[in-house]
Amino acid sequence: MADARTAAGIGRPVPYSTLSHLGCPRCGARHDADQVQGTCSCGSPLLARYDLGPIQVSPLDIAGRPANLWRYHELLPVREAGHVVSLGEGMTPLIAMPALGRELGVPNLLMKDEGLLPTGTFKARGAAVGVSRAAEIGVRAIAMPTNGNAGAAWAVYAARAGLRSLIVMPAGAPAITRAECAAAGAELYLVDGLIGDAGRLIAAALPGRPGFQDVSTLKEPYRLEGKKTMGLEIAEQLGWRLPGVIVYPTGGGVGIIGIYKALLEMRELGWVTGDLPRLVAVQASGCAPIVTAFAGGARQSEPWPDARTVAFGITVPKALGDFLVLDALYATGGTAVAVDDEELLADQREVARLEGCFICPEGAACFSAVRRLRDSGWLSGSDEVVVLNTGTGLKYPDTVPVDVPLLAPADVLP
Ligand SMILES: Cc1ncc(COP(=O)(O)O)c(C=O)c1O
Ligand SMILES: [Zn+2]
Repeated sequence: MADARTAAGIGRPVPYSTLSHLGCPRCGARHDADQVQGTCSCGSPLLARYDLGPIQVSPLDIAGRPANLWRYHELLPVREAGHVVSLGEGMTPLIAMPALGRELGVPNLLMKDEGLLPTGTFKARGAAVGVSRAAEIGVRAIAMPTNGNAGAAWAVYAARAGLRSLIVMPAGAPAITRAECAAAGAELYLVDGLIGDAGRLIAAALPGRPGFQDVSTLKEPYRLEGKKTMGLEIAEQLGWRLPGVIVYPTGGGVGIIGIYKALLEMRELGWVTGDLPRLVAVQASGCAPIVTAFAGGARQSEPWPDARTVAFGITVPKALGDFLVLDALYATGGTAVAVDDEELLADQREVARLEGCFICPEGAACFSAVRRLRDSGWLSGSDEVVVLNTGTGLKYPDTVPVDVPLLAPADVLP
């Protein structure tokens, strides 16, 4: 991981990380980034801020670095290369979807396939950066509520870093994620409820567990930094150019907030120019608080009652960072779309049939959203559209019911 600290400019070595402080996007307060921090005293998530000015690193320098997300280390919070905890995450393929694009009337359709990451979802990015930074500032144990995939990712990275982990997930979360947590030695509990119930259990337990950091979605600032690298990679993989539209399955919102943050940082650095992509937040119609808020022009969402969808990762009735998601949608001229479970399950099969990609239901929801947005005219046939498939379909084997004949060895095929 210790690739050269490029000093492309003025003889001053560029530090491994240019992390400066943590800033509050709501009240503007500054917080020390080298202390363990949760949310701001005003209740808002905190965002990592960097000394972008002195960065003397160019896309050319980055091109020669190893193909993982640490290639952007100046824009990540880990201060020492030796503190990076890695399983090789990042630089997932950005692949063309020509047959599906033809069917949807969006010929320039691309998919960034996060299913190839360790633990099979994009959650590995947030876990790699979050765990590395937590360990670097002295945290020895982490605690989190999860819809499954984040817990699995944080459990394995915690194991690799030698940290203890306490995980609570809904009983309805993908079953494989339990096995991943258990195999990695996490202290795991299921709750007969949703992610908010898991969060309340964690919050109530922590006062009795000194030394554990609450790493719930957006309650620590560095998971977002890992997810930001999706935005950096999309630009780099397009030759430091931005697509017209980025479509993202939105639950807690960390991914879309992170991508937006990456776009702003790249623009400030001069790595990209021109219009930002229009960002699209996709939710399921059984849990669509952001979509409802966006439709009403609201700045934050209302809790969604009786949330349910097969796209389990986006079952988040009320996100702490809802106002940041909505800001990103309004600022980029984006939109928010809800799709039905039947649509996304049909599109999960369509993507596999036409393109050979077995994607997760959350990713499939994005293709259903593209279909709707093209039908409504919001997307045109000339838009270049990047869909984030946030995980592999292999984590959700039950979403494709299989009813095939069982033969005796002596039977004859038709
Ligand atoms: C596969 C998958 N996609 C999307 C999401 C939503 O993530 P975010 O918090 O970035 O909105 C999750 C969260 O659990 C997930 O597991
Ligand atoms: Zn604040």
